[in-house]
Parts: sequence; structure tokens; C-alpha cells
Amino acid sequence: MDSVAHRFPAGFLWGTATASYQIEGAVKEDGRGQSIWDTFSATPGKTAGGDTGEVACDHYHRMSEDVALMKELGLDAYRFSVAWPRVQPDGTGAPNPLGLGFYDRLVDELLGAGIRPVVTLYHWDLPQALEDLGGWQNRDVAGWFADYAAAVSGALGDRVTSWTTLNEPWCSSMLGYALGVHAPGHADPAEGLVAAHHLMLAHGTAVPVIREHCPDAEVSITLNPSQVHGPEDPTEADLDAVRRTDNILNGLFFGPLFHGAYPEGFLDDVAPVTDASYIHDGDLEVMSAPLDNLGVNNYFPTRVRATPEGSEPRGQAHLMPGCERVDEVPPHPPVTAMGWEVSPPSHRMIIERSARESGLPVLITENGSAWDDVVSEDGQVHDPERVDYLVGHLGAVADAIEAGADVRGYFAWSLMDNFEWAYGYDKRFGIVHVDYDTQVRTVKDSGRTYARVIAEHRGR
Ligand code: FCB
Repeated sequence: MDSVAHRFPAGFLWGTATASYQIEGAVKEDGRGQSIWDTFSATPGKTAGGDTGEVACDHYHRMSEDVALMKELGLDAYRFSVAWPRVQPDGTGAPNPLGLGFYDRLVDELLGAGIRPVVTLYHWDLPQALEDLGGWQNRDVAGWFADYAAAVSGALGDRVTSWTTLNEPWCSSMLGYALGVHAPGHADPAEGLVAAHHLMLAHGTAVPVIREHCPDAEVSITLNPSQVHGPEDPTEADLDAVRRTDNILNGLFFGPLFHGAYPEGFLDDVAPVTDASYIHDGDLEVMSAPLDNLGVNNYFPTRVRATPEGSEPRGQAHLMPGCERVDEVPPHPPVTAMGWEVSPPSHRMIIERSARESGLPVLITENGSAWDDVVSEDGQVHDPERVDYLVGHLGAVADAIEAGADVRGYFAWSLMDNFEWAYGYDKRFGIVHVDYDTQVRTVKDSGRTYARVIAEHRGR
């Protein structure tokens, strides 16, 4: 561990990440409108234990304390997201000064602590009023999102120079509209593709708007690419399953954003579910607006094979368009509390691929792991598995850098335990423990390890 810090270049950015709905709570305060996650989590059976983000980490009221904690950890940067329904409670129209005011104070508090704010405009909490109009199915969402981007970059652009349009459009589109496990909970493969297209269109429409309000901005998007592995001795059908899975997980976004086109063969593969009439002339030029860096969120690789003839598909992958005969293969051990495979070599591979495909500097905007943490009798949280995961994945990032990938920063997911979407509060990803009864924060061993790596790196 002592050596890992010294494998990073000077100026490498060390941060942590969070998202508005996962930590803020205060869902009805200061004029905040309803989001699709308020609706979804209040629907019986949608989240573990019926958990919602109503209180979460109460960050809305504890923001100063949380920024002080970040300073104590020695962070250079903090990646947070803005809740669209705080800024525009109904999704469009005049911005709500009280909602913007919270982020205004947060930015000042961070800058006062010497921490760079890295702002994500959309981390999944779409205003419910817009979902009522079709949400990401409605092409008008591109204009709505650009107006929202104007409101936020206009208010914070004098101090914030790192902007990310969307977090993980794969999750918003596929988990939200094709698999039904995230808000708004639709299960239609064609809707998944339409949402993905409109998300990228909204992104590309917002990029010049952000640049206009903040000429010094570094503008980015965060994707969640995953390294796809097939069987060791693949058949032709297995190779095709790998190709199709790679297209829906990775190529669907790398193509339009960085190559100005959907991946070769992709539109033929999905032709059984859609006629692609949602793709209009000129869309791909809008989507491929030049960016300054690429955010990569990666936690685990994906393992698939072709569904054997005569069998029913295994897992959820077959619910994605073009993947109807794809089987999910169980992860190789070890796995985290999420059941996600721990594989630093796959992390390195997907970072190198992302750098290659985008031709851009890369920021690892999320990486981390959930474990069944307990507070010990000594009042501490000893989380050796998370320490191992962290050090192993930092090693993989360093390997990628040494192999030539231009990686500029790493953001641990997450600063603190929080509302883990459909898994509720059951899954803890923080490097800081949160007691949800008392809201007491306790730095875990992994948090101390991270702070030590940062301090060592700075001491070079
Ligand atoms: C990512 C999300 C983030 C968090 C982690 C565990 O997909 O961006 O909000 O849920 O997974």
C-alpha cells in the first residue's frame, strides 16, 4: 500500500463521489419538487425494505459537517450531483432560488476548504412532472435538460469549472426503462433504446450551453463501461453473445458520443424491437459535441455466454435489446456484498479501452465496494475487504497509467454510506460509516487508508 501512492503522477486528483438523492434527504424542503425516485421508492415492492431517500444521510442539513470531514480526509475534489427538482420543481421554468441556494453554499464551503467541486447535473432524479410527460421517452427532454443546465451553470459557473452532464446513461435507460429495476420502472427494451438516444441528445444539447455560461469549463460525461468476458473456449455463438453484450453496455455510448455513429451492426441487432425512427438527421452530430474528459465509473466485469439451444436464458441480460439469447454467467470469486466480481485486471482493461475509444483524459469518477460492515466494540469500522478492494483497484489504475492511459483522477464511491437505489440502506459503500438512527459519521479503516494514500502522494 505504501508504494501505491507513488505510482500516481503529480497533480493527480483524489476525490470522493456522492449523488443528490442518495444523501440529501429533505425531499420536501425549500420548494423541492418530486422526483421519479420519490415516486418509485414509495411504490411497494420496488426497494429493499421499502426504503426511500426521504431522510437519507440528512446531508441537506449537515453539509458543513460533511465538508469538514472531506477536509479531514485530505480530499482534493468532491463529485456531487444537483437535484433537478430542487432547481426546477416542475422540471421547466424559472429556477427556484432556494434550491439553487443550497448548491451555492455547498460550492462556497468546498472552495473555502480547498476542495474542488466537480458537478454532475443529472444523477437519476428526474422531476416527476417531466416523467408525466414521457420523461426520457419524450424528445423534448433535450431542450428541458439544456434549460436546466443553463440555470445551474449560470448560477455556479463563476466558481465551478468541472461539469458533468449525465451520470451513467446506461443505468437511466436500461435499468430504468428496459429492465424496470430503477425509476421509472418500465420494462420495455424499445423504450430503453429511445431513452439512451434522448439522454445522449440531451447531453450534446447541454454541452455548448454549459460552455457559454462557463467558458473555462471542463465538460464531461460519466459512463459506466464494463469489460465483457466470454467463456475461455468460446463457440461462434458465444463470441456473438460477447459482441452483443459489449455493444449494449459500451458501444451504445462510445459509438454516438465519440465516433458519431451507432456501432456497426447494432441497429440490425435491435431491429426486432425498434425501427429506430427516434434517430433524426443531425442527432449524431449533436451527441458527439467535443468534450474535455471522460468520467468512468466501474465496479465489476460482466461474464456472458450464448444461451444453449433449447434452454431459457439465464440472468437479466436477455432483457436488453439485441441480447435475447445471452446468458449471464456467475461471477468469479471473490464477490462483494452486491455479488459483484472483484477484478482489478478488468478495471484496468476497461480504463484503457475508455481512454482509447474517447481519445480523452479519463477521470475514474466512481469505484468502490459494498461489504457487510459492523461497528466494532472499539467504536471503529474495520473493513479489510474494502481496504483490499481500494488498494487493488488503485493498483489497476496505476497499471493503466503506466501503460499510457491518461488518467487524471480517482473518486472513491462513496464518501459515506447512503441510499443504494433499489437496495435501499442495506448496502454500504461508504469509506465513512453512517448510523442512520443518529446520523453519526465514523471514518472506516478504508477511509483512513485512502487518507494515507492521499497524504503520501502529496508528500512526494
Ligand atoms: C453506480 C451509481 C451510484 C452508486 C454505485 C454503487 O452505478 O452511479 O449512484 O449506486 O453504482
